[in-house]
Order: sequence, then C-alpha cells, then structure tokens
Amino acid sequence: MLEISLYFKVKSSGMLFSIDDKLSSRFKYDKLALMTVTIIVGTQWGDEGKGKITDLLARDMDMVVRYQGGNNAGHTVVIGDKTFKLHLIPSGIFYSNVMCVIGNGVVVDPAVLLEEIETLRGQGHAAENLRISTQAHVIFPYHKDLDKAQEKKKESGRIGTTCRGIGPCYVDKYNRRGIRIGDLYDQGLLRQKLAWNLEEKGFYLEKFYGQKVHYNLDSILAEYTGYAHALRHFVAEDSTSLVYEAVKKRKNLLLEGAQGTMLDVDHGTYPYVTSSNPVASGACVGAGFSPKAVDEILGVVKAYVTRVGDGPFPTEIAGGMSDKLRQWGGEYGATTGRPRRCGWFDGVVMKYSSRINGLTSLAVTKLDVLDNVETIKICVAYEYKGRQLKDFPLNLACLEQCQPVYIEMPGWLKPLSKVRNYQELPPHAKNYLAKLAEIAEARVSLISVGAERGQIIKLPS
Ligand code: IMP
Repeated sequence: MLEISLYFKVKSSGMLFSIDDKLSSRFKYDKLALMTVTIIVGTQWGDEGKGKITDLLARDMDMVVRYQGGNNAGHTVVIGDKTFKLHLIPSGIFYSNVMCVIGNGVVVDPAVLLEEIETLRGQGHAAENLRISTQAHVIFPYHKDLDKAQEKKKESGRIGTTCRGIGPCYVDKYNRRGIRIGDLYDQGLLRQKLAWNLEEKGFYLEKFYGQKVHYNLDSILAEYTGYAHALRHFVAEDSTSLVYEAVKKRKNLLLEGAQGTMLDVDHGTYPYVTSSNPVASGACVGAGFSPKAVDEILGVVKAYVTRVGDGPFPTEIAGGMSDKLRQWGGEYGATTGRPRRCGWFDGVVMKYSSRINGLTSLAVTKLDVLDNVETIKICVAYEYKGRQLKDFPLNLACLEQCQPVYIEMPGWLKPLSKVRNYQELPPHAKNYLAKLAEIAEARVSLISVGAERGQIIKLPS
C-alpha cells in the first residue's frame, strides 16, 4: 500500500486529515478510473491539460462524451513520439474499445471533423468508435463570417474569439434558427432552413457589418450534403440513449469538458467568455443525462494560470517571468497558435471554480513547468479599493480593478519530469500541492509532470 505522509488540510471538513484516511477499497492501483460517472472540467480559463487527463482516464472507460464547445478547443495528447491535436473528437478516441460520443451540446464544423477523422486514420487510428449526436448543431460559413465581422467591428467590443463561428452557431441554437446534424439528412428541411439563414445572415453581414457576401444556396447545400454523406457512418440516432444505457448498466463513463469554468457563459468573466457551459453541470445538459448519475467531478488545474483572448486576468504577469512560463510550458493556443497570457496561480479563481463545479478531486497539470522558479507566488485574495476580497467578484468593473494579494512559496528547483511516485516529490513541491488542495477544498488525485502519457503521478482516493 502506498504510504502518503503529507497532510492535506481541507477546511470544509473542519478537520485535518491525511490522504491515508481517504484510502478506500474502491481504488485500484492498476486502474486510473475514479468512479463510474466522472466529469472532467477545466477550472481556469481553459488549456489546463484536460486532453491528457481524459486520454489517461479513458483507458478504463467504456464511453467518453464531449459535452460542449466546438473546434475552438484544442486538446493535445502525446503518445510516444506522436502528438495528436484534437478539436472535436473526444480524447478517448485512441482506445478502440471506448465509445467516443460528440454530444448534443457540441457545435460541429463538419469539414473540421472530417479532416480530424482523416488525420487520425492517417496516423493509424480508425475512429470507428466515434458517434455523433443528431442534436448537435452545425457550423456554417455564415457563422464564421459573423464571428470574424463581430471581432473586427470595434464598436461591437472585441472578445478575442477563435473566429471559428462558435458564438454565432450557439446564437442560432438558442434563437431556434439552428441546423442540427440530423437536419443534414432531410434535403427539404435543410434547403428551407438554409435558405432562411442565408437570407438573414446575408442581410446582417451586409447592412450591419458592411461586408459583401455571396452565399449560394445550392453550392452550400451540396457541400453540406457531401459532409453528411461522409459522416453518416458515425451518426447515432439518439446519443442520449447510448449515454443512458451506459449509466444504467453502471459502465465507466467520462464526460469531457472543453474550455474552462472562467470561460463559462453564465459563470465566467462575461462577456469575455465562450458561448457554452463548460462547468460540470453543463455535462448533464450537453450529453443528456441526469445529475443523479454523477459520481466524481475532477477539476483540471494548471499549476499556474494562462488565458487566451481578451478579458480580465488579475494574476497576469508582465514581462520576464511570463515569457519564461510561456516558453517552458509551450503556452501557445492549440487551435489558433496565439501566445497565451501567463500568470501566477489564482486561489480566488480556484475557490470559486471549486464551488461552482463541486469538485471532488483535482488533477494538477504542468507542475514541472515551475521546476526552475525560485519563488512561486499564489494569489490568496484580491485587493479592491482598500478592501481584501476572498471571494471572486462577479462584477466585471470591480474585477478589472482588483490587484492580487500574494503569498510566496519556495520553489523546489529540481526536475520533476521523471518522478512517478508521490513520495519522490521534493518537499517544496508537496507543500505547493497541499496549498492548492487547501484552497480548492478538494484532494489531489493526479499530478502531471510532462506532456507524455506516462508522465503522471497517481494518488489514491
Ligand atoms: P470562442 O469560444 O471562439 O467564441 O472564444 C471566446 C473566448 O474563449 C476567447 O477568449 C477565446 O480565446 C476563448 N477560448 C475558446 N476556446 C478556448 C480554449 O479551448 N482554450 C482557451 N481559450 C478558449
């Protein structure tokens, strides 16, 4: 039995307990699977390393479901000397016995999806285990044009989106003008819906954004009918019933979120957010199953914080250290290649994220990126107009004026990339992890110390 000496102080329980106390018969060391239904959620502004964690846990799963977002996401999985970048396909795809579902909550650009399937095939992964919900909404050229036009028009307030048409596609979904995967197989309905949308979007783009567009109904119809034909094999009549069956039979099910809590359209730093609900509760809606079924909510936490795109970021570092973290952590967007803004770990965000998601455990990623940092800062409060705020302020104007209040912790100054066992971690690294766990009020179950699949430290539950 693994011996863990470190004590994690968990405030919510009102007592001090060791990880040993948390050992339960449910945990099997040869299995990474935590429990039956597990949601993986990003706790910061995305890019926490969810792809690697999903891939890792997927080994012991029966099904992985992606529940929101679209090809704005970029999930990187490194297997041996191969690096895979997934945008739409769930990160469990590399296990042929694991069913991978693109859920109803996802928005799908079919050209991108087909390209991803082809790329995987070229790399030896047939993607035969992929299923796509008929209820997922489809991204059309006008969604991308609207996204770009909106970002370009200064007065409309730049968000720094990925310009993949994600927002406008969700707008159509909620405005009940959207076209779903299932609609692609009904020529009459598709023509009717497409004609309406082309007229409306053409008008809007031309009159409001001053952009000349020449959409041709027949050619877009033909293009998307071609995509539909190519994807037919993967489309599930009712993906929610697949999920239901898995839940009913107590199969191991993983719900894979994209982006992160602070980019959630309801709970993030609105309006500098994405257009969906990456938070844990979004998984039930985006995959179509009951909250009663959820056993475990695993928060993926990067050991420092990054953000792509515009919007407030209280712990952002200016200059030197930011550049170093970007370089050491390879912090460039997997989708757009944009350099990510880098900052210190934000405990105020962590606390908020833990509450909103109801985290049951943490996967701390990229701990090795901090190997050479002499003094590591952790933000424990914000200072606002002479007051200290411990809770995340929901008011954007207030948040923009907040200054981080830091505590400092000594760095471990030792390479972690080869560590596979918790006991082998330097004491300062253990202390840092303990502080993160204390803030999140959740135990650490996984620690990632490199991009490779095997560079992981597993802690018992
Ligand atoms: P959209 O999702 O393309 O509409 O972009 C909205 C905001 O979310 C922008 O700030 C993007 O940079 C950010 N965003 C979207 N997807 C991701 C992601 O996968 N990782 C990090 N940021 C993202």
